[in-house]
Amino acid sequence: PARPRVLSGIQPTADSFHVGNYLGAVRNWVAMQETHDTFYSVVDLHAITAGHDPVALRNQTRVAAAQLFAVGLDPERCTLFVQSQVPEHAQLAWVLSCITGFGEASRMTQFKDKSVKQGADRSSVGLFTYPILQAADILLYQADAVPVGEDQRQHLELTRDLAQRFNTRFGRTFTVPAPYIVRDTAKITDLQDPTAKMSKSASSPAGIIMLLDDPARSAKKIRSAVTDTGREIIFEPEQKPGIANLLTIYAAVTGRTIEDLVAAYEGKGYGDLKKDLAEVVTEFVRPIQQRTQAYLDDPAQLDKLLALGAEKARTVASATLREAYDRVGF
Ligand code: ADP
Ligand code: NA
Repeated sequence: PARPRVLSGIQPTADSFHVGNYLGAVRNWVAMQETHDTFYSVVDLHAITAGHDPVALRNQTRVAAAQLFAVGLDPERCTLFVQSQVPEHAQLAWVLSCITGFGEASRMTQFKDKSVKQGADRSSVGLFTYPILQAADILLYQADAVPVGEDQRQHLELTRDLAQRFNTRFGRTFTVPAPYIVRDTAKITDLQDPTAKMSKSASSPAGIIMLLDDPARSAKKIRSAVTDTGREIIFEPEQKPGIANLLTIYAAVTGRTIEDLVAAYEGKGYGDLKKDLAEVVTEFVRPIQQRTQAYLDDPAQLDKLLALGAEKARTVASATLREAYDRVGF
């Protein structure tokens, strides 16, 4: 039987992915190449919903793609493309927006959260309709499954509702995608505020380890990580979130278990743990950084890979759009 198809996207809104993005999402993208028919997108259309700089966006899109190839996405085994290079996303989003209720869209909690931050009146209509574009991203590829974290559940529910509604109203067109719950994904927290998730929208860069940070910089961040006044290196996410987070990152980048690490650090201090963590993180990111740089040093080759990805994506997306347009009466 054919492998289940999966679609996932990531925004190019920073100069580098952080270890939370990698350990919580992108690492799993690499693994899914073995088990699924995978479509991955650098979603630059989504990246302009909250204001942006054109030069930075173009650069961040390329760096994002280079990092994704560098961590192991293989153009032979997955389809990696830049969203704006596949115009069908915007085209299908319009159709879907016309079967989405205004009240229904208004209930999306992520918009409420983000628009509060931007000032409700100043937030864009694009930010409001973002979940509809996301539905188009998924439905164009007839994805069977979408890897989702807790924050994306409501958007996937909307996607499922829109697929079902379209199919009922106009005839069976879209696969209704199921959530793919990823087991064993690490939830990484901010080094400066270990109860909050590590996020590029954090107020201070000191709490975020970037994949492309140079060793001295990430070592400094790790050294300055907020812990607690205790001494014991044990895994207690509630009582000792800072130490638990350092152990989680350590385990994830080395493949060792938390229990193994706790046993190995018995009787040692926080300083030892931080020093060693800085080293293993450096070891871990070095080859990723080298490969990323190699892709960036050969822009023609990177463009070629992305053009091939877009072409593969369009083959599927255009067939779905043609069918949807036909159903609608275009
Ligand atoms: P950010 O919060 O930095 O803006 P995004 O929302 O763009 O990150 O998330 C991109 C992907 O990375 C998502 O799949 C998300 O679940 C994952 N991710 C982001 N931050 C973390 C984290 N701290 N721990 C684990 N996974 C994360
Ligand atoms: Na985010």
